[in-house]
Amino acid sequence: MSDDGPRGWGAPLYETVLDATAVGEGTRLLDLGCGAGLFARAAADRGALVTGVDLDDGAVAQAAAEVPEGTFLVRHAQDPPRGPFDVVAAVQLLMHVADPVAVLRRAGRGGELVAATVWGRDDECDLRVLQEALAPRRPGRGPAVSEPARLRAMAERAGLVVERLDEVVVPFEYADEDALLEPLLATPVARTATRTTDPESLRNSVLEAVEPFATGDGGYRLENLFRVLVARPR
Ligand SMILES: C[S@@+](CC[C@H](N)C(=O)[O-])C[C@H]1O[C@@H](n2cnc3c(N)ncnc32)[C@H](O)[C@@H]1O
Repeated sequence: MSDDGPRGWGAPLYETVLDATAVGEGTRLLDLGCGAGLFARAAADRGALVTGVDLDDGAVAQAAAEVPEGTFLVRHAQDPPRGPFDVVAAVQLLMHVADPVAVLRRAGRGGELVAATVWGRDDECDLRVLQEALAPRRPGRGPAVSEPARLRAMAERAGLVVERLDEVVVPFEYADEDALLEPLLATPVARTATRTTDPESLRNSVLEAVEPFATGDGGYRLENLFRVLVARPR
């Protein structure tokens, strides 16, 4: 049980979802793609009765440890427990599934209210400069779900009526170069980049890319936009 609000970078996003869906004491919540359970923890801290599913058994074990009072299962988001649930949430899941419409449709069958969060377009997220520094590519706009009109259309195709599509800006803050570089250079995309670029050059490219986001005290602050869709089954 955490007594100081949700943990991790996603905290502002989790708060937005929980507020928008009025999650509180006794809310039956299904968390699709629950990951390590930080969103589930935040929901349980408001008194929700949480069930979570994820394809990754390691993530499910972490979520079960994070929220011992919840129920967590290794299941596909299109094959969750039947419920019924008051709220079905898909936090940062839709970019990772082959068929976001099918996931939204299934979510609408299980819950009275569906909430889904996604990254904004590349041009709405400062984090894109890190991706570009590690793996230069032609500027894109990101996955289809990041386009608000397309996300709304997907929800409608899934048989949902969109109630709101909010935007949340989440800052990613790093105290110093090491706090930024160490986790970044351990990612698969960075490890792939070191096959063709020496680590020192890669480090310098990243530091050059984040220079506009320096805070003046040795740290960095990158702002990223996320969208929160809230919808009801038709
Ligand atoms: C970016 S993480 C988000 C985790 C968590 N919702 C959060 O916000 O911290 C995406 C999660 O979705 C899971 N996932 C991807 N495809 C899935 C699917 N088809 N069914 C269930 N989980 C899936 C991944 O294993 C991963 O844990």
